[in-house]
Amino acid sequence: TQSISEVSRVKNLNRVVIGKHEVEAWYFSPYPAEFAHADTVYLCEFCFSYFISHRQLERHCLHCTLQHPPGNEIYRQDDLSFFEIDGRKQKVYCRNLCLVSKLFLDHKTLYYDVDPFLFYVMTVTDDHGCHVIGYFSKEKESLDNYNLACILTLPQYQRMGFGRTLIAFSYELSKAEGKIGSPEKPLSDLGLLSYRAYWSETLIDKLVRFKGEVSIDELSHMTSFTTQDILHTLQSIDALKYYRGQHIICLNDSVIENYYKALKKKRRNINPQALQWKPPH
Ligand code: ACO
Ligand code: ZN
Repeated sequence: TQSISEVSRVKNLNRVVIGKHEVEAWYFSPYPAEFAHADTVYLCEFCFSYFISHRQLERHCLHCTLQHPPGNEIYRQDDLSFFEIDGRKQKVYCRNLCLVSKLFLDHKTLYYDVDPFLFYVMTVTDDHGCHVIGYFSKEKESLDNYNLACILTLPQYQRMGFGRTLIAFSYELSKAEGKIGSPEKPLSDLGLLSYRAYWSETLIDKLVRFKGEVSIDELSHMTSFTTQDILHTLQSIDALKYYRGQHIICLNDSVIENYYKALKKKRRNINPQALQWKPPH
């Protein structure tokens, strides 16, 4: 695979205009040479084409016909949709998406070769169109059982629960495939925080529902989480106890209290019935 490592590169762009939003860039992203000394990159919110000036972006928008991501809509529930896009068939779109996500990720290698990946793009539809909120990529064939390569919530939509929805969707796909999965390592700090929150909440939900009468293997089967991710998560919430020569799972009161508090937050859960998808071969 052709790839470049970004370790020593310095952040070039400071600001990113995406449609009507303006956000700060976090890290270097290898946009073409003419952007090397630019302060701002202007992105089309539908096709993620990039421009050096607002005028150029406006001119593009007059002609850009893309109203939703260029793939199959495989999920719709209320205003929330997911589109599946094949990196081999939509190279330009997927490369543009990778360039955007690199602005907010420092440790990932950016793959120009998008062929081996599928991209799952999440949108929210309103009167003005289908707005991309975030996405994740997934290797078509993962030898390490990774079910997610790279995940991004666009900064203007972060901390609103969408990352959780993206993660939940990645596991829904694994369930449909009858596989267990885990995100590609290493995780970023924000990635780890989001996964930890999702894993523990999901496991606590199962444990409460089954009144603790459930094994690690059964939990893995129900959630598509790896047993390793389950064990780490249970350890992190201090739920693994050693009792009379045996490991048992046991939730303390504060963990359960926090869980019920979290349930009160407004969330967009994934409805498995709304997924119209067969694993690709
Ligand atoms: N500070 C503290 N906790 C956080 C933060 C934060 N900034 N962000 C997320 N969390 C935790 C919280 O527990 C949060 O739940 P809460 O809001 O109920 O407390 C939980 O994660 C889920 O948060 P979401 O709002 O669902 O997540 P968000 O939409 O912000 O997306 C994501 C998370 C995708 C990691 C986002 O921060 C992002 O795009 N970051 C930049 C790119 C990146 O680092 N991606 C992960 C790389 S690893 C990989 O790709 C395999
Ligand atoms: Zn466009």
